[in-house]
Amino acid sequence: MSTLQHQHILLAVTGGIAAYKALELARLLVQAGAKVTPLLTKAAQKFVTPLSLQTLSGSAVLSDLFADAEELEIGHIRIARSADLVLTAPATAQALSRAALGLATDYLGTLYLATRAPLIFAPAMNQAMWLHPATQDHLATLKQRGAIIWGPEEGNLACGEEGPGRLLAPAEILRRLEAYFTARSSLKGIRCLITAGPTQEPIDAVRYISNHSSGKMGYALAEALSEAGAEVILLHGPTSAPPPEGVTRYLTPSALEMLAQAKRLAPRCQVIIGAAAVADFSVKNAAAGKLKKINLTHLELRPNPDIIAELGQAKQKGQLVIGFAAETERLIEEATRKRKEKNLDWVVANQVNQVGGVFGAEENQITLVQAHGAEEWPRFNKKELARRLVKRIANHIQAKQKGEA
Ligand code: C5P
Repeated sequence: MSTLQHQHILLAVTGGIAAYKALELARLLVQAGAKVTPLLTKAAQKFVTPLSLQTLSGSAVLSDLFADAEELEIGHIRIARSADLVLTAPATAQALSRAALGLATDYLGTLYLATRAPLIFAPAMNQAMWLHPATQDHLATLKQRGAIIWGPEEGNLACGEEGPGRLLAPAEILRRLEAYFTARSSLKGIRCLITAGPTQEPIDAVRYISNHSSGKMGYALAEALSEAGAEVILLHGPTSAPPPEGVTRYLTPSALEMLAQAKRLAPRCQVIIGAAAVADFSVKNAAAGKLKKINLTHLELRPNPDIIAELGQAKQKGQLVIGFAAETERLIEEATRKRKEKNLDWVVANQVNQVGGVFGAEENQITLVQAHGAEEWPRFNKKELARRLVKRIANHIQAKQKGEA
Protein backbone atom coordinates (compact mmCIF):
# COMPACT_ATOMS: atom_id res chain seq x y z
CA MET A 1 0.00 0.00 0.00
CA SER A 2 1.33 3.44 -0.88
CA THR A 3 2.19 5.79 1.98
CA LEU A 4 0.14 8.36 0.07
CA GLN A 5 -3.07 6.49 0.88
CA HIS A 6 -5.61 8.91 2.42
CA GLN A 7 -3.16 11.81 2.46
CA HIS A 8 -4.82 15.07 1.52
CA ILE A 9 -2.58 16.84 -0.96
CA LEU A 10 -3.28 20.31 -2.18
CA LEU A 11 -1.73 20.35 -5.64
CA ALA A 12 -1.09 23.94 -6.70
CA VAL A 13 -0.36 24.29 -10.40
CA THR A 14 1.18 27.58 -11.43
CA GLY A 15 1.58 29.10 -14.85
CA GLY A 16 4.45 27.70 -16.82
CA ILE A 17 4.71 25.48 -19.86
CA ALA A 18 5.43 22.53 -17.52
CA ALA A 19 1.89 22.86 -16.13
CA TYR A 20 0.74 20.13 -18.53
CA LYS A 21 2.87 17.65 -16.54
CA ALA A 22 0.74 18.38 -13.47
CA LEU A 23 -2.08 16.45 -15.15
CA GLU A 24 0.01 13.29 -15.10
CA LEU A 25 1.08 14.05 -11.55
CA ALA A 26 -2.54 14.41 -10.42
CA ARG A 27 -3.35 11.06 -12.02
CA LEU A 28 -0.43 9.34 -10.28
CA LEU A 29 -1.38 10.83 -6.92
CA VAL A 30 -4.97 9.64 -7.21
CA GLN A 31 -3.77 6.22 -8.30
CA ALA A 32 -1.59 6.04 -5.16
CA GLY A 33 -4.66 6.66 -3.02
CA ALA A 34 -4.17 10.32 -2.16
CA LYS A 35 -7.02 12.79 -1.92
CA VAL A 36 -6.06 15.58 -4.29
CA THR A 37 -7.44 19.11 -4.15
CA PRO A 38 -6.15 20.88 -7.25
CA LEU A 39 -5.60 24.59 -7.53
CA LEU A 40 -4.94 26.40 -10.78
CA THR A 41 -3.66 29.94 -10.85
CA LYS A 42 -4.96 32.28 -13.49
CA ALA A 43 -1.76 31.96 -15.51
CA ALA A 44 -1.81 28.16 -15.24
CA GLN A 45 -5.23 28.14 -16.88
CA LYS A 46 -3.56 29.38 -20.03
CA PHE A 47 -1.71 26.05 -20.19
CA VAL A 48 -4.21 23.51 -18.82
CA THR A 49 -7.95 23.66 -18.39
CA PRO A 50 -9.73 23.30 -15.06
CA LEU A 51 -11.83 20.55 -16.63
CA SER A 52 -8.81 18.33 -17.45
CA LEU A 53 -7.39 18.74 -13.95
CA GLN A 54 -10.76 18.15 -12.36
CA THR A 55 -11.27 14.97 -14.37
CA LEU A 56 -7.86 13.54 -13.48
CA SER A 57 -7.89 14.53 -9.81
CA GLY A 58 -11.52 13.72 -9.20
CA SER A 59 -12.03 17.00 -7.32
CA ALA A 60 -13.30 20.45 -8.15
CA VAL A 61 -10.52 22.85 -9.08
CA LEU A 62 -9.83 25.85 -6.90
CA SER A 63 -8.96 28.83 -8.97
CA ASP A 64 -8.44 32.54 -8.84
CA LEU A 65 -11.82 32.96 -10.47
CA PHE A 66 -13.80 32.69 -7.25
CA ALA A 67 -16.07 35.66 -7.48
CA ASP A 68 -17.60 35.59 -4.06
CA ALA A 69 -15.26 37.23 -1.59
CA GLU A 70 -16.85 35.50 1.39
CA GLU A 71 -16.42 32.05 -0.11
CA LEU A 72 -12.83 32.91 -0.90
CA GLU A 73 -12.22 33.98 2.67
CA ILE A 74 -13.78 30.97 4.35
CA GLY A 75 -12.94 28.43 1.65
CA HIS A 76 -9.21 29.00 1.51
CA ILE A 77 -8.78 28.89 5.29
CA ARG A 78 -10.70 25.63 5.58
CA ILE A 79 -8.85 24.01 2.71
CA ALA A 80 -5.51 25.34 3.87
CA ARG A 81 -6.09 23.76 7.28
CA SER A 82 -7.32 20.39 6.07
CA ALA A 83 -4.41 19.64 3.73
CA ASP A 84 -1.60 17.33 4.87
CA LEU A 85 0.71 18.91 2.35
CA VAL A 86 0.76 21.79 -0.13
CA LEU A 87 2.65 20.71 -3.24
CA THR A 88 3.29 23.40 -5.84
CA ALA A 89 4.19 21.76 -9.17
CA PRO A 90 5.25 23.36 -11.34
CA ALA A 91 6.29 26.29 -9.17
CA THR A 92 7.08 29.39 -11.21
CA ALA A 93 9.45 32.14 -10.09
CA GLN A 94 6.31 34.12 -9.35
CA ALA A 95 4.89 31.39 -7.07
CA LEU A 96 8.16 31.16 -5.15
CA SER A 97 8.32 34.91 -4.64
CA ARG A 98 4.69 35.11 -3.56
CA ALA A 99 5.25 32.38 -0.98
CA ALA A 100 8.51 33.91 0.26
CA LEU A 101 7.14 37.44 0.51
CA GLY A 102 3.71 36.43 1.80
CA LEU A 103 1.90 38.26 -0.97
CA ALA A 104 -1.75 37.37 -0.50
CA THR A 105 -2.80 38.74 -3.86
CA ASP A 106 -4.67 35.66 -5.05
CA TYR A 107 -6.06 32.34 -3.86
CA LEU A 108 -2.65 30.67 -3.85
CA GLY A 109 -0.98 33.56 -2.03
CA THR A 110 -3.57 33.53 0.74
CA LEU A 111 -3.31 29.78 0.99
CA TYR A 112 0.47 29.92 1.54
CA LEU A 113 -0.17 32.24 4.47
CA ALA A 114 -3.13 30.38 5.93
CA THR A 115 -1.85 26.82 5.81
CA ARG A 116 0.02 25.06 8.57
CA ALA A 117 0.81 22.14 6.30
CA PRO A 118 4.35 21.60 5.02
CA LEU A 119 5.16 23.28 1.70
CA ILE A 120 6.91 21.43 -1.11
CA PHE A 121 7.86 23.22 -4.32
CA ALA A 122 8.91 21.62 -7.61
CA PRO A 123 10.16 24.64 -9.56
CA ALA A 124 10.22 24.98 -13.34
CA MET A 125 11.32 28.05 -15.23
CA ASN A 126 13.85 29.54 -17.60
CA GLN A 127 17.40 28.91 -16.34
CA ALA A 128 18.26 32.62 -16.08
CA MET A 129 15.15 33.21 -13.99
CA TRP A 130 16.08 30.28 -11.75
CA LEU A 131 19.65 31.50 -11.28
CA HIS A 132 18.64 35.12 -10.71
CA PRO A 133 19.61 36.31 -7.20
CA ALA A 134 16.00 37.36 -6.55
CA THR A 135 14.75 33.79 -7.09
CA GLN A 136 17.66 32.34 -5.13
CA ASP A 137 16.99 34.74 -2.24
CA HIS A 138 13.33 33.70 -2.16
CA LEU A 139 14.36 30.05 -2.19
CA ALA A 140 16.73 30.60 0.72
CA THR A 141 13.92 32.30 2.67
CA LEU A 142 11.53 29.44 1.98
CA LYS A 143 14.11 26.80 2.95
CA GLN A 144 14.90 28.65 6.14
CA ARG A 145 11.21 28.46 7.04
CA GLY A 146 11.28 24.71 6.44
CA ALA A 147 9.91 24.48 2.90
CA ILE A 148 11.20 21.64 0.75
CA ILE A 149 12.40 22.27 -2.80
CA TRP A 150 12.59 19.40 -5.30
CA GLY A 151 14.47 20.14 -8.50
CA PRO A 152 14.62 21.69 -10.98
CA GLU A 153 16.58 19.39 -13.27
CA GLU A 154 19.17 20.50 -15.79
CA GLY A 155 18.45 20.01 -19.45
CA ASN A 156 16.77 21.43 -22.54
CA LEU A 157 14.16 23.96 -21.57
CA ALA A 158 10.96 24.77 -23.41
CA CYS A 159 12.31 28.24 -24.19
CA GLY A 160 15.11 26.66 -26.24
CA GLU A 161 17.83 27.35 -23.68
CA GLU A 162 19.74 24.81 -21.65
CA GLY A 163 20.36 24.73 -17.92
CA PRO A 164 18.61 24.21 -14.59
CA GLY A 165 14.88 24.79 -14.93
CA ARG A 166 13.12 21.55 -15.90
CA LEU A 167 10.33 20.27 -13.70
CA LEU A 168 11.12 16.87 -12.17
CA ALA A 169 9.30 14.03 -13.91
CA PRO A 170 5.89 13.33 -12.31
CA ALA A 171 7.00 9.77 -11.48
CA GLU A 172 10.04 11.16 -9.64
CA ILE A 173 7.86 13.60 -7.69
CA LEU A 174 5.60 10.70 -6.74
CA ARG A 175 8.60 8.61 -5.61
CA ARG A 176 9.83 11.48 -3.43
CA LEU A 177 6.38 12.00 -1.96
CA GLU A 178 6.17 8.36 -0.97
CA ALA A 179 9.60 8.57 0.68
CA TYR A 180 8.50 11.80 2.39
CA PHE A 181 5.39 10.22 3.90
CA THR A 182 7.37 7.11 4.90
CA ALA A 183 9.79 9.41 6.77
CA ARG A 184 6.84 11.14 8.45
CA SER A 185 5.97 7.97 10.32
CA SER A 186 9.48 6.58 10.76
CA LEU A 187 9.66 7.51 14.47
CA LYS A 188 6.09 6.71 15.41
CA GLY A 189 5.93 5.42 18.97
CA ILE A 190 9.39 6.78 19.83
CA ARG A 191 9.73 9.36 22.60
CA CYS A 192 12.60 11.85 22.31
CA LEU A 193 14.04 14.27 24.83
CA ILE A 194 16.00 17.21 23.52
CA THR A 195 17.73 20.10 25.25
CA ALA A 196 18.17 23.33 23.28
CA GLY A 197 19.23 26.95 23.50
CA PRO A 198 21.48 28.62 26.03
CA THR A 199 21.06 28.56 29.78
CA GLN A 200 21.13 31.71 31.88
CA GLU A 201 22.88 31.58 35.23
CA PRO A 202 21.78 34.44 37.48
CA ILE A 203 24.35 36.76 39.02
CA ASP A 204 21.73 38.87 40.72
CA ALA A 205 18.20 40.13 40.08
CA VAL A 206 19.16 41.76 36.74
CA ARG A 207 22.34 40.12 35.49
CA TYR A 208 23.27 36.68 34.27
CA ILE A 209 25.98 34.59 32.61
CA SER A 210 25.02 33.09 29.25
CA ASN A 211 26.25 32.51 25.70
CA HIS A 212 25.41 33.16 22.04
CA SER A 213 23.34 30.02 21.40
CA SER A 214 20.19 30.87 19.40
CA GLY A 215 18.48 27.50 19.96
CA LYS A 216 17.83 27.23 16.20
CA MET A 217 19.61 23.90 15.73
CA GLY A 218 17.88 22.24 18.69
CA TYR A 219 14.51 23.65 17.67
CA ALA A 220 14.97 22.45 14.09
CA LEU A 221 15.78 18.99 15.44
CA ALA A 222 12.74 18.99 17.71
CA GLU A 223 10.56 19.93 14.74
CA ALA A 224 12.11 17.31 12.45
CA LEU A 225 11.68 14.61 15.12
CA SER A 226 8.04 15.58 15.48
CA GLU A 227 7.60 15.60 11.69
CA ALA A 228 8.91 12.03 11.68
CA GLY A 229 6.10 11.04 14.04
CA ALA A 230 8.06 11.02 17.32
CA GLU A 231 6.69 12.30 20.60
CA VAL A 232 9.06 15.14 21.46
CA ILE A 233 9.84 16.72 24.81
CA LEU A 234 11.90 19.86 24.52
CA LEU A 235 13.77 21.45 27.42
CA HIS A 236 14.98 24.88 26.44
CA GLY A 237 16.68 27.88 27.86
CA PRO A 238 15.60 31.46 27.10
CA THR A 239 15.74 32.11 23.35
CA SER A 240 13.94 34.29 20.86
CA ALA A 241 13.76 31.59 18.16
CA PRO A 242 10.15 30.76 17.20
CA PRO A 243 9.09 27.63 19.13
CA PRO A 244 8.66 24.46 17.11
CA GLU A 245 5.15 23.10 16.52
CA GLY A 246 3.79 19.89 17.93
CA VAL A 247 6.24 19.36 20.77
CA THR A 248 5.90 19.47 24.57
CA ARG A 249 8.07 22.32 25.83
CA TYR A 250 9.46 23.17 29.24
CA LEU A 251 11.32 26.40 29.83
CA THR A 252 14.31 25.54 32.01
CA PRO A 253 16.26 28.79 32.32
CA SER A 254 19.27 27.54 34.28
CA ALA A 255 21.46 24.42 34.04
CA LEU A 256 20.18 23.09 37.36
CA GLU A 257 16.55 23.45 36.27
CA MET A 258 17.34 21.79 32.93
CA LEU A 259 19.15 18.95 34.70
CA ALA A 260 16.28 18.30 37.12
CA GLN A 261 13.73 18.02 34.30
CA ALA A 262 16.09 16.00 32.11
CA LYS A 263 16.71 13.43 34.83
CA ARG A 264 12.99 13.15 35.50
CA LEU A 265 12.03 12.69 31.84
CA ALA A 266 14.99 10.80 30.32
CA PRO A 267 14.15 7.31 31.66
CA ARG A 268 10.93 7.39 29.58
CA CYS A 269 12.69 8.33 26.33
CA GLN A 270 14.34 6.19 23.66
CA VAL A 271 16.28 9.05 22.08
CA ILE A 272 18.06 11.78 24.06
CA ILE A 273 19.74 14.71 22.37
CA GLY A 274 21.75 17.40 24.13
CA ALA A 275 21.77 20.37 21.79
CA ALA A 276 21.72 22.98 24.56
CA ALA A 277 24.68 25.26 25.08
CA VAL A 278 24.65 24.87 28.84
CA ALA A 279 26.63 27.59 30.61
CA ASP A 280 29.76 26.10 32.09
CA PHE A 281 29.49 27.88 35.42
CA SER A 282 26.84 29.26 37.71
CA VAL A 283 27.33 31.89 40.39
CA LYS A 284 27.58 30.44 43.87
CA ASN A 285 26.85 33.70 45.64
CA ALA A 286 24.05 34.89 43.30
CA ALA A 287 22.05 37.68 44.95
CA ALA A 288 18.28 37.98 45.17
CA GLY A 289 18.51 41.77 44.77
CA LYS A 290 20.61 43.92 42.46
CA LEU A 291 24.30 43.87 43.39
CA LYS A 292 26.34 47.05 43.55
CA LYS A 293 28.92 47.25 40.75
CA ILE A 294 31.77 46.93 43.20
CA ASN A 295 30.54 43.51 44.31
CA LEU A 296 30.58 42.18 40.77
CA THR A 297 34.34 41.80 40.97
CA HIS A 298 33.93 39.06 43.56
CA LEU A 299 31.75 36.48 41.87
CA GLU A 300 32.29 32.97 43.06
CA LEU A 301 31.74 30.49 40.25
CA ARG A 302 31.00 26.81 40.51
CA PRO A 303 30.98 24.35 37.60
CA ASN A 304 27.58 23.36 36.30
CA PRO A 305 26.63 19.70 36.08
CA ASP A 306 27.15 18.20 32.62
CA ILE A 307 23.58 17.29 31.74
CA ILE A 308 24.18 15.09 28.70
CA ALA A 309 27.06 13.34 30.50
CA GLU A 310 24.75 12.48 33.40
CA LEU A 311 22.14 11.16 30.97
CA GLY A 312 24.87 9.27 29.10
CA GLN A 313 26.16 7.66 32.28
CA ALA A 314 22.60 6.66 33.25
CA LYS A 315 21.89 5.33 29.74
CA GLN A 316 19.44 2.45 29.63
CA LYS A 317 19.53 -0.47 27.22
CA GLY A 318 18.23 0.58 23.82
CA GLN A 319 18.55 4.32 24.45
CA LEU A 320 20.34 6.41 21.85
CA VAL A 321 22.14 9.36 23.46
CA ILE A 322 23.48 12.11 21.23
CA GLY A 323 25.55 15.12 22.21
CA PHE A 324 26.91 18.12 20.38
CA ALA A 325 30.45 19.48 20.41
CA ALA A 326 31.27 23.00 19.28
CA GLU A 327 35.01 23.39 18.81
CA THR A 328 37.46 25.84 17.33
CA GLU A 329 40.31 23.33 16.92
CA ARG A 330 41.00 19.56 16.83
CA LEU A 331 37.32 19.00 16.08
CA ILE A 332 37.28 15.23 15.64
CA GLU A 333 39.73 14.53 18.45
CA GLU A 334 37.70 16.61 20.90
CA ALA A 335 34.35 15.19 19.77
CA THR A 336 35.70 11.63 20.03
CA ARG A 337 36.98 12.32 23.54
CA LYS A 338 33.61 13.78 24.60
CA ARG A 339 31.75 10.84 23.08
CA LYS A 340 33.75 8.43 25.23
CA GLU A 341 33.91 10.50 28.41
CA LYS A 342 30.18 11.25 28.42
CA ASN A 343 29.17 7.74 27.30
CA LEU A 344 27.38 9.10 24.23
CA ASP A 345 26.49 7.09 21.14
CA TRP A 346 26.94 9.91 18.67
CA VAL A 347 28.42 13.39 18.77
CA VAL A 348 27.39 16.04 16.28
CA ALA A 349 30.55 18.10 16.03
CA ASN A 350 30.83 21.52 14.51
CA GLN A 351 33.62 23.94 13.94
CA VAL A 352 32.42 27.16 15.55
CA ASN A 353 34.73 29.25 13.38
CA GLN A 354 33.50 27.81 10.04
CA VAL A 355 32.86 30.19 7.16
CA GLY A 356 29.43 31.75 7.72
CA GLY A 357 29.47 30.87 11.43
CA VAL A 358 27.28 28.54 13.50
CA PHE A 359 25.84 30.48 16.41
CA GLY A 360 22.71 32.24 15.23
CA ALA A 361 23.41 31.29 11.60
CA GLU A 362 20.83 29.60 9.36
CA GLU A 363 23.29 26.98 8.19
CA ASN A 364 25.63 24.55 9.83
CA GLN A 365 28.32 22.12 8.73
CA ILE A 366 28.80 19.12 10.98
CA THR A 367 30.90 16.02 11.40
CA LEU A 368 28.99 13.05 12.79
CA VAL A 369 31.20 11.14 15.22
CA GLN A 370 30.12 7.59 15.98
CA ALA A 371 31.91 4.59 17.55
CA HIS A 372 33.18 3.46 14.14
CA GLY A 373 34.50 6.81 12.97
CA ALA A 374 33.80 10.36 11.85
CA GLU A 375 31.80 11.42 8.81
CA GLU A 376 32.02 14.95 7.44
CA TRP A 377 28.73 16.31 6.08
CA PRO A 378 28.29 19.23 3.66
CA ARG A 379 27.01 22.55 5.00
CA PHE A 380 23.19 22.52 5.13
CA ASN A 381 20.41 24.82 6.17
CA LYS A 382 19.69 23.87 9.83
CA LYS A 383 16.22 22.54 9.02
CA GLU A 384 17.56 20.33 6.24
CA LEU A 385 20.42 19.20 8.47
CA ALA A 386 17.92 18.34 11.21
CA ARG A 387 15.86 16.26 8.79
CA ARG A 388 18.95 14.37 7.69
CA LEU A 389 20.02 13.70 11.26
CA VAL A 390 16.52 12.49 12.10
CA LYS A 391 16.63 10.16 9.10
CA ARG A 392 19.85 8.70 10.52
CA ILE A 393 18.20 8.27 13.90
CA ALA A 394 15.20 6.51 12.34
CA ASN A 395 17.47 4.22 10.28
CA HIS A 396 19.47 3.39 13.39
CA ILE A 397 16.36 2.51 15.40
CA GLN A 398 14.88 0.46 12.58
CA ALA A 399 18.14 -1.47 12.08
CA LYS A 400 18.25 -2.21 15.80
CA GLN A 401 14.64 -3.33 15.86
CA LYS A 402 15.30 -5.63 12.90
CA GLY A 403 18.38 -7.02 14.62
CA GLU A 404 16.39 -7.81 17.70
CA ALA A 405 13.45 -9.33 15.83
O1 C5P B 1 31.74 19.71 26.87
P1 C5P B 1 30.92 20.53 25.94
O2 C5P B 1 30.20 21.66 26.61
O3 C5P B 1 31.62 20.93 24.69
O4 C5P B 1 29.82 19.48 25.46
C1 C5P B 1 28.79 19.81 24.62
C2 C5P B 1 27.69 18.80 24.77
O5 C5P B 1 27.42 18.57 26.14
C3 C5P B 1 26.40 19.28 24.20
O6 C5P B 1 25.65 18.15 23.79
C4 C5P B 1 25.74 19.98 25.38
O7 C5P B 1 24.34 20.03 25.25
C5 C5P B 1 26.16 19.08 26.52
N1 C5P B 1 26.35 19.78 27.79
C6 C5P B 1 25.47 19.55 28.83
N2 C5P B 1 25.67 20.13 30.05
C7 C5P B 1 26.74 20.93 30.25
C8 C5P B 1 27.63 21.19 29.21
C9 C5P B 1 27.40 20.59 27.99
O8 C5P B 1 24.50 18.82 28.64
N3 C5P B 1 26.91 21.48 31.43
